[in-house]
Amino acid sequence: MSTDTQPIRVWDLPTRIFHWSLVASFLIAFLTAESEKLRDIHVAAGYTLAGLIAFRLLWGFVGGGYSRFAEFLPTPRKLIDYIKSLIKGRPQHHVGHNPAGAVAIFLLLGFGIIAAASGWATYEDIGGHFMEELHEGASNGMMAIVVIHIAGVIVSSWLHQENLVLAMITGWKKIRNSAHENPAG
Ligand code: HEM
Ligand code: HEM
Repeated sequence: MSTDTQPIRVWDLPTRIFHWSLVASFLIAFLTAESEKLRDIHVAAGYTLAGLIAFRLLWGFVGGGYSRFAEFLPTPRKLIDYIKSLIKGRPQHHVGHNPAGAVAIFLLLGFGIIAAASGWATYEDIGGHFMEELHEGASNGMMAIVVIHIAGVIVSSWLHQENLVLAMITGWKKIRNSAHENPAG
C-alpha cells in the first residue's frame, strides 16, 4: 500500500474563525474577571463568547463537512470503541474530531452557555449569591476542560503524527493514505 500523503480540507473558514475568537474571548473574560475596573471589558468578552457559541450551534446544523454535529456526535458506542482502541495501542484515526475530543467540545460549549447566562444574570442582580457561585463554577469548569482539551490535542497530534493545531489554522490536514483505519473512513 502506498504511504504518500493527501491533503484534505477539514475545517472551513467560519469554524476556524470561531475557534480562535472563542479562545481570545474566553481568555479575556477569564483574565478580567476579578477586576471591577475591567468589568466592561469582561462583560463585552463574555457577550462575544455567547455570540460565538450561538453561531457555532447554528453552524453545527447548517455548516458543511466535518463541522456538522452529525459528523462527530459522540455516542456511547463510538466513545467506548475509541477508548478501547487507545487501550489496545491502536488508536482509531479520525479525519474530523475524534469521539473523546467531541465530548470535550460539547462540554466547552455547555459550560460557555452556563457561564455567559449566569454572568448576565449576576450583572442584572438576578439570582443573588447562588448565581455568582454558578458563574464562577461554570467559568472554572470551562477552564478545566480547556486544559484537558489542549492536552488531548497535543497527545493526539503525537499519536497520529499530524499537526492538529496547524490544521485548525490553515483548514488543511495531510492524511497518510495508509491511515484510513477508522471505520467511518
Ligand atoms: C480558551 C481555550 C479554548 C477553547 C474554549 C477551545 C475550544 C474548542 C472547540 C469548541 C473546538 C471545536 C471546534 C469546532 O468544531 O467548532 C476546538 C477544537 C480544536 N482546538 Fe481548541 N479551544 C481552546 C484552546 C485551544 C488551543 C490553545 C489550541 C492549540 C494549542 C487548540 C487547538 C484546537 C484544535 C487543534 C482543535 C481541533 C481538534 C481536532 O482536530 O479534533 N484549542 N477547540
Ligand atoms: C462567558 C465567559 C465568562 C467567563 C469565563 C467569566 C468569568 C468570571 C469569573 C471567573 C468571575 C469571578 C470573579 C471573582 O472571583 O469574583 C466573574 C465575575 C463576574 N462576571 Fe463573568 N464571566 C463570563 C461572562 C460574563 C458575562 C457575559 C457577564 C455579564 C453580562 C459577566 C458578569 C460578571 C460579573 C458582574 C461578575 C462579578 C460577580 C461577583 O461580584 O462576584 N460575566 N466572571
